Amino acid sequence: MEKSSQVDYLVMGAGVAGLRAAIELARHGEVLVVTKESLGESNTHYAQGGIAVAMEGDADESLHLDDTLKAGDGIVYRPAAEALVAEGPQRVAELMEWGAVFDREGNTGDGALLRTREGAHSLPRILHANGDATGAEISRSLVAFARAHPRIRFAEWTMVSGLVVADGRIIAADVASAAAAAADSTPDRILVRSLLIASGGAGQVYAETTNPAVATGDGIALAAQAGAELADMEFYQFHPTALSLPGVPRFLLSEALRGEGAYLRNESGERFMDRYHPQLELAPRDVVARAIAAEGKAAAISGGPRAVYLDMRHVTGIDLHRRFPGISAFLARHGLDLARDLIPVRPAAHYLMGGIRTDLEGRSNLRGLYAAGEAACTGVHGANRLASNSLLEGLVFGARAARSMLADGLPFVDADTPAAVPIPLSADEEQRVEKLIADLRTAMWDYAGLLRQHSLLLEGLASQQECADGLRKLVREGKGSRRLSEARALSSVAHAILHAALARTESRGAHFRNDFSQRDDEQFRKHSIFNRGGSANKVVFEEW
Ligand code: SIN
Repeated sequence: MEKSSQVDYLVMGAGVAGLRAAIELARHGEVLVVTKESLGESNTHYAQGGIAVAMEGDADESLHLDDTLKAGDGIVYRPAAEALVAEGPQRVAELMEWGAVFDREGNTGDGALLRTREGAHSLPRILHANGDATGAEISRSLVAFARAHPRIRFAEWTMVSGLVVADGRIIAADVASAAAAAADSTPDRILVRSLLIASGGAGQVYAETTNPAVATGDGIALAAQAGAELADMEFYQFHPTALSLPGVPRFLLSEALRGEGAYLRNESGERFMDRYHPQLELAPRDVVARAIAAEGKAAAISGGPRAVYLDMRHVTGIDLHRRFPGISAFLARHGLDLARDLIPVRPAAHYLMGGIRTDLEGRSNLRGLYAAGEAACTGVHGANRLASNSLLEGLVFGARAARSMLADGLPFVDADTPAAVPIPLSADEEQRVEKLIADLRTAMWDYAGLLRQHSLLLEGLASQQECADGLRKLVREGKGSRRLSEARALSSVAHAILHAALARTESRGAHFRNDFSQRDDEQFRKHSIFNRGGSANKVVFEEW
């Protein structure tokens, strides 16, 4: 039997952007925050390095703006970056009032805030918490603050399985259990005034990623399916230094390690970054990632293993284990020690600069549908995000999106159809879905990764098509499960990435084409738009 209910504002995702928005929305309405696993299981939680913020006034803000513009390689949407750096300090100050604790000098808790440096920052401006657990602290404090609010409810282990569009407006969302052994998988159709997608990125579209398993691009895919435009989907940031040990997940080794002095060395022990960029290990992320890939390849060609290492053995004056407790503990489980060992690293998919196209207030092209954080694309990061700007983005644009949802004050509209009840997949079908996901992830890594070219991208599209065909068959039969939804999301995100990457015949920021290795400002100092007018194979470019 179908169920239905209503809530003023539904927020999909409980990372920094979703939680910050929920707190704002609760000033004037009832809010339901839906998250696919337990609270805290988000990209936000795993963010290590910190939150970049200019707390020292106008000159400091202007430098932060410059660094953000430079890292974005010519296509940062300036008004978005201006909003980020100007509103960031207030958002961070408020976060501290709500209970977030950042690391400070001394042991008394009232010393000056400690700041570290990361790639492409002109000075140390990155606040951190518990050494290398900044995301976890931000998530903890926002969850605690939001939980205490009587108008915010949380639905954990719950997914949004569909959006209901009427007359070009989102009027409801179907939500269903995301737990494997759910007693009842009947979706609940919830009427909403408006819905915020803050469900993060899609690192799982690549075989090698620093992202947790939940990062499957669900919100981006649902939005596109409902008719929302996506922007800049070709720009996937590859973090240069994920741990590279066989059989071990690509654990993030924060850029703050290099901010505190780590060198990169190749197989021969050479500190090689001077051959790639004057900022050496603190060059922009895309440059460092490609340099590591190139050094790894060079070693393989000469017959050696593809190893590139982070080296902190020379770093004195800080207690590495105290400064990086989470990283040290993870490495220790694998017999490695920052102070003693070379740490093998390789790039891994980390952050999507593109996403649901929104204005500066989080509005998509569909009424009632808003987006913020990694799921959204305001153009604030351009072609390459400046390190540690993402937590700040979540705070600033989460609050902005919530304010426009309140200001737009859309009424409820009745949905006249119930949510469809899916048929569960058999064990064989679930296995088939897993195989389709695995093949897609490998194809995306091989064909649409760090170094791209026309022929490889076409191979990627062929693999994505195979995946989509396999999934379509199950969907036509009325089947449904969490993994099937995730597979469809990954396939549709991959489709957008591949088309946008094929269309951008230049190299810029995180998007590098072997066959078009130069930046082409005349043609491409622009943003790519995918899904315009529901046209799911066409990419158009426009200036913002
Ligand atoms: C890191 O700690 O290196 C990740 C920070 C970020 O993605 O900005």
